[in-house]
Amino acid sequence: MKISSFVHFARFGIKTILFKKREPILGTIIVTDKCNLKCKHCSVNNITAVMHPYKQIRNEMRQLYDMGVRILFFYGGETFLWEDGERTLRDLVVEAKKMGFLIVNTVTNGTFPIDLPEADLILLSLDGDRERHNIIRGDTYDTIMENVKQATSDNICFYMAINQINKDAVCDVCRTARDVQNVRAVSFNFHTPYPDTRELALSKEEKAKCCEDIVKMMKEGVPVFNLKSAFPYIIQNRFPTPCHQCVIMENGKISTCGRCIEIPGLCDECGYFFVAEYTLLFRGNIKIIFEMLKTYLKYI
Ligand SMILES: C[S@@+](CC[C@H](N)C(=O)[O-])C[C@H]1O[C@@H](n2cnc3c(N)ncnc32)[C@H](O)[C@@H]1O
Ligand code: SF4
Ligand code: SF4
Repeated sequence: MKISSFVHFARFGIKTILFKKREPILGTIIVTDKCNLKCKHCSVNNITAVMHPYKQIRNEMRQLYDMGVRILFFYGGETFLWEDGERTLRDLVVEAKKMGFLIVNTVTNGTFPIDLPEADLILLSLDGDRERHNIIRGDTYDTIMENVKQATSDNICFYMAINQINKDAVCDVCRTARDVQNVRAVSFNFHTPYPDTRELALSKEEKAKCCEDIVKMMKEGVPVFNLKSAFPYIIQNRFPTPCHQCVIMENGKISTCGRCIEIPGLCDECGYFFVAEYTLLFRGNIKIIFEMLKTYLKYI
C-alpha cells in the first residue's frame, strides 16, 4: 500500500472513532447479477440478469467517490461476465484507479481466464476441496485451478463461504492457498442464512470449530486475510451491525452495508467477516486496530 493511501485511511479511522462518524470508506458496485453458475448457497444470482451499462457504472463510481469511498469492490453476479461493447471489467478497474480510488478489488467465481493485474485483489471463490467445491458450485474446480495457475498476476485471494456442506474443508482451502502460485491469501465468511438457504447455516459450535481450524492454519504459516481477534465476536454474532462505513450500489440504489439489509432479522445472523472486522475497528477495538494494520500492510 502506498504511504499516501495509508495516511488517508489512518486519518479516516481516527476521525471515525473519535467523533463516532458514519461516513463510508468501503463501497461495492454490482456490475450485473447475471451469472454462469447457480451455486447451492447463493440467493443473488440471475434475479434480473441485467448488465449495467458502462456510463451508469462510471456515474455510480463518481457518486461513491464523492461520498468519500476509497476502497471499491466490483461484485456480481459474475463480474468477469460483465461487458459493454468492447469494454470489460478491466476497463472498470482502470477507470476506478484513474478516478482516485485507493484500493480496487473484484470478486469472481474464477471460471473465466484471469488477466487483471490492475486490481489490488481478486477475491476468487473456492469453496472446498474438489469434491465439496463441486457439490456447491457444479463441476468447476479443475477449470478454476487451471485459470489460477495461468493468471497474469499474483493478486488472487481465495474467498470461501463456509456452510454445512464444506465446513470440514477449511484446512484444504488454506493449504491450497499456501501452495498454489499466484495466490496471496485466503479470506473466509460464514454462510449468511437467506430465507431460501437457512439449512446451510452453521451453529455457534460449528463456527467455533472452523475458527479453530483457521487459527491452526495461521500458526502453520497459511496467509489468512482475516482478523483472529474478531473470531469470538463472529462465532457468537456479537458484533455491531450494520456496517455504516460500507455501502453497496446496485442499479443506482445505495444501501448501507449490504443488499441483505432489507431482509428482516438477517443482520443478527450475519456471516460476513468484513462486517465484524470493520464495525469493531471503527468502535476503536485496540486489538482489531493493530491486527488490521498488520494484515492490510501484508496483503495489499
Ligand atoms: C455473490 S458472489 C458474487 C461474485 C462471484 N460470482 C463469486 O461467486 O465469487 C460473492 C461471494 O458471496 C458468497 N456468498 C453467496 N451467498 C452467500 C451467503 N448466503 N453467505 C455468505 N456468502 C455468500 C459467494 O460464495 C462468493 O464468495
Ligand atoms: S458464482 Fe457467485 S453469483 Fe454465481 S451463483 Fe455462485 S455465488 Fe452466486
Ligand atoms: S450486517 Fe446485515 S446488511 Fe450487513 S452484510 Fe450482514 S446481513 Fe447484510
